[in-house]
Amino acid sequence: MTAPAVATDIGIALDRDADDELADLRSEFDLPRQDDGAALHYLCGHSLGLMPVAARQAVIRELDRWSRLGAQAHLDAGGWFAFHERFAAPLAGLIGADAREVVAMNSLTVNLHLMLASFFRPTGERRRILIEHGAFPSDRYAVESQLAFHGLDPATELVRLAAESGRLTAESLDAALARDDGRVALVLLPGIQYLTGEAIDLAACAAVARRHGCRIGFDLAHAIGNLELNLRAAEPDFAVWCSYKYLNGGPGAIAGCFVNRRWIGDDSLPRLAGWWGHDPRTRFDGATGFSPMASAEAWQLSNPPILAMAPLEASLTLFADAGLERLRRKSVALTGYLEALVRSLCGDAVEILTPADPAARGAQLSLRLCREAAATARIAASMRAAGVVVDWRAPDVLRLAPVPLYNRFVDVHAGASALAAALEE
Ligand SMILES: Cc1ncc(COP(=O)(O)O)c(C=O)c1O
Repeated sequence: MTAPAVATDIGIALDRDADDELADLRSEFDLPRQDDGAALHYLCGHSLGLMPVAARQAVIRELDRWSRLGAQAHLDAGGWFAFHERFAAPLAGLIGADAREVVAMNSLTVNLHLMLASFFRPTGERRRILIEHGAFPSDRYAVESQLAFHGLDPATELVRLAAESGRLTAESLDAALARDDGRVALVLLPGIQYLTGEAIDLAACAAVARRHGCRIGFDLAHAIGNLELNLRAAEPDFAVWCSYKYLNGGPGAIAGCFVNRRWIGDDSLPRLAGWWGHDPRTRFDGATGFSPMASAEAWQLSNPPILAMAPLEASLTLFADAGLERLRRKSVALTGYLEALVRSLCGDAVEILTPADPAARGAQLSLRLCREAAATARIAASMRAAGVVVDWRAPDVLRLAPVPLYNRFVDVHAGASALAAALEE
């Protein structure tokens, strides 16, 4: 392989940082530091996004309200009764949906189960679920257990989409559904595949699923806050995501859920219900039957965990200020720079699993090291000793994600240089 020419000189990175119109956003985050106080080069936002400085105050504000007001904080102006409502519009903006299609609630896998309870309705021969080969374990466990819950055998009724061309394309989905001949009831695909970093064409895949008579949902864990998404155009039945990666909502932060507006108010759709999905005007009045809210909020079960939600608001404010379009432009530049440096500095010692086309990836680059697992772990550790944080997925994949909200071109330079040095050790 011939590496394309790229200036590996640190001066290039410094110049690009100097020209970065979003550079000031970095100061809105607390940066993990090394023992000597220097900021780490944090390339791990695909795993856990950094803490917005304002998150601390947001949590303290709610703790103060609890301490001052007790239960009264639920009903106070701006209180907790309607706290979740403030998240719908900004989250909808990030995924290209209507606010009434979006709700912040629970955690990702819980939301996936709630969506599968509503949308996976096996009937007759049509009783299979299709997911991608190598899906995130929790997604696989969720769909396997849903199949078992319906008395179906996951060994035969779970179909795995092998990416035939090495890619998760609408064509490979089309071929798999055609092969399956009307037996798949529901398709669950990622917005971005967690291991390879490949972004799928949501609209094309949703169109294929619909054409084959299947319902389709997306796991947007690695896509929200990373790509410019347009669910209004893709029209999946549902989508779920977590908020602790590119959304910087904090560990175990409140997750999110999208329900397509065509299903809202449709009584034919069963749902696992709780009081927080009931019409708020009569929520405390057990005398009436369950009266669902006219939005995705109808899928809420419990009153929301305020302290796990507050940090997300701080982060969403930063997205609103910066604008996803500008963030994405910087993200494409950062990841393109990372790719060019890795090719130039590491050559054949690494295989880049992530597609080269910027439209088919987000911030993350996944690198397969042509080494055994122990050596891959050692390389990740050696990069950490050089002040670079990445993550490692067994047996041999390193994932690096420069995040446009807080990463600089010099972080990318440090990451690629530390990798090249570790490979030579
Ligand atoms: C693609 C994907 N799906 C599901 C999960 C599980 O998320 P949770 O523990 O929030 O349910 C993760 C967590 O990283 C993930 O990356």
